[in-house]
Amino acid sequence: MTGFVDSGADDIRTVSVMVGSLRKAAFSGRLARSLSALAPSDLRVELLPSVGLLPLYDQDILDEEVPQAVTELAGLISKSDAFAIVSPEYNWSIPGVLKNALDWLSRLKPQPLEDKPVILLTCSPGLLGGARAHAPIRNVLHALDTRILARPEVQISGVAQKLEGDSISDPATADFVTARLKAFNEFIRR
Ligand SMILES: Cc1cc2nc3c(=O)[nH]c(=O)nc-3n(C[C@H](O)[C@H](O)[C@H](O)COP(=O)(O)O)c2cc1C
Repeated sequence: MTGFVDSGADDIRTVSVMVGSLRKAAFSGRLARSLSALAPSDLRVELLPSVGLLPLYDQDILDEEVPQAVTELAGLISKSDAFAIVSPEYNWSIPGVLKNALDWLSRLKPQPLEDKPVILLTCSPGLLGGARAHAPIRNVLHALDTRILARPEVQISGVAQKLEGDSISDPATADFVTARLKAFNEFIRR
């Protein structure tokens, strides 16, 4: 008989999280940082570096060499089992900085998001919680051959009143996000 003890480490899945805002105090960044505490114990949440580190997409840059920040971002996404986006809505659509990051990733071979399970969370201080950004963001995610957890969608309205530091202080919102992360954990393992 061997003395093998299963540490359970193989059961852990990782999700890398991209934030669609650059500002330090972004609600979306705070929401992203709240996820770790709400995720199931076998789902590890890892925040990706800011998308502000990437240059604006330019084919001339790519023809020279893939920028280091793009390579690093792609490497972190490739290593993780799943991908999450936490983003505001800009003018009823996808923030430019987020689109820029997805455009860079889309040009790589292998393309790091291909077949990745994805969950999308939007938030807004307004009433609609970024609802109108879901379709445009998903459209891009479809183009990148990701596998999206479709519904119920996570759209957090009045977010300014629902966060305390980097935690969700509104119990109903915390319960909802916890349930979505549990569903996502199951979705990743399907
Ligand atoms: C260019 C721009 C466009 C915006 N468009 C919308 C919008 O369409 N819907 C909305 O709910 N909020 C909109 N807002 C307000 C943002 O939701 C708000 O600034 C939010 O705090 C930005 O997200 P962050 O806190 O994660 O940076 C917009 C803000 C900016 C700067």
